[in-house]
Amino acid sequence: MTKTIAVIRGDGIGPEIMAATLKVLDALDCGLDYEFVDAGMAALEKHGELLPQATLDAIARHGVALKGPLTTPIGKGFASLNVALRKHFDLYANVRPAISFPGTKARYEDIDIITVRENTEGAYLSEGQTLSDDGETAQSIVRNTRTGATRIVRYAFELAVRKGRKKVTAVHKANIIKTASGLFLDVAREIAKDYPQIAFNEMIVDNTCMQLVMNPWQFDVIVTTNLFGDILSDLCAGLVGGLGLAPGANIGNDAAIFEAVHGSAPDIAGKNVADPCALLLAAAEMLDHLGMMGKGTRVRNAIHATLAAHDRVTPDLGGNGTTESFAEALVDRVLKRKGAVERHGA
Ligand SMILES: NC(=O)c1ccc[n+]([C@@H]2O[C@H](COP(=O)([O-])OP(=O)(O)OC[C@H]3O[C@@H](n4cnc5c(N)ncnc54)[C@H](O)[C@@H]3O)[C@@H](O)[C@H]2O)c1
Repeated sequence: MTKTIAVIRGDGIGPEIMAATLKVLDALDCGLDYEFVDAGMAALEKHGELLPQATLDAIARHGVALKGPLTTPIGKGFASLNVALRKHFDLYANVRPAISFPGTKARYEDIDIITVRENTEGAYLSEGQTLSDDGETAQSIVRNTRTGATRIVRYAFELAVRKGRKKVTAVHKANIIKTASGLFLDVAREIAKDYPQIAFNEMIVDNTCMQLVMNPWQFDVIVTTNLFGDILSDLCAGLVGGLGLAPGANIGNDAAIFEAVHGSAPDIAGKNVADPCALLLAAAEMLDHLGMMGKGTRVRNAIHATLAAHDRVTPDLGGNGTTESFAEALVDRVLKRKGAVERHGA
């Protein structure tokens, strides 16, 4: 059976890393068809708007999209397209895995942490922002809801079950922010009781930052509110060597969008040197989401083996390969072809 997904190639390096990613997916024979649609600068040039209705319709129709990075033009009147997509489809769960890979400039080894960030409410949204006439006082509303906390915490536990994870840590600041953060913590404690097979603990966000740096191996799945999740997921990416290997998923009840966390990298666009790993790891998350866990694991294993062998990797990873040659090396491993060399010249 085939499944059609919406594919947004994106701007800058987007088309190059998307081509590499689809090459690996095709080698895996996932039974996926692609409907290519536009967003960002590519859409503005072709259709006169950044986020055409046809693109929203395709995502709604297929329920799953793989998205390259989008350039949001600088200047007033252009809202972030990623935020617009999250709002439009009510993509409440932002899932960010941070996994150690060999041959990267990471500070730690053997890290495997998934941050599940609430994506639709809380301080990050900066609702009702005002600045007083004298410029002295700025304020905004922090609104967390029981419904919002419930669905994100339940998502985190269900993800833990699905992926065979052992522990969920709820990160909060309920000791000081008694209502907004306290509500989230109360909900987390309640829902944890429904999952006796998963260990549960709670941690205050400032301590979590220190603990992540001192002993990151104690974490498995982290669930937290929007702003804390925004910060912690980048901290976790930093533990495993930065955004180059950081995938992200934005998931709602009716749609899910998978993407690399990095941007469109205009400085290297068109040079065939962009690293496709983050988008490919996002595609692996997408395969998991579609129930093809085995294929998702094969993608991650291929990346692991290719990086371990330093085979045809791109300059950001210290190699002299190209986006295309890196993709070939990954395909070789996915297919277990003889072309895969165990130590290709860096
Ligand atoms: N998810 C998204 O769509 C998304 C996320 C962040 C930024 N952006 C957009 O991207 C544009 C550029 O933003 P930026 O320069 O701040 O961040 P960026 O992530 O595009 O680039 C930062 C640095 O990392 C390098 N880099 C990024 N991805 C790489 C890859 N795959 N391989 C090798 N090197 C890579 C770039 O060359 C650059 O030096 C902006 O228009 C921004 O709005 C989009």
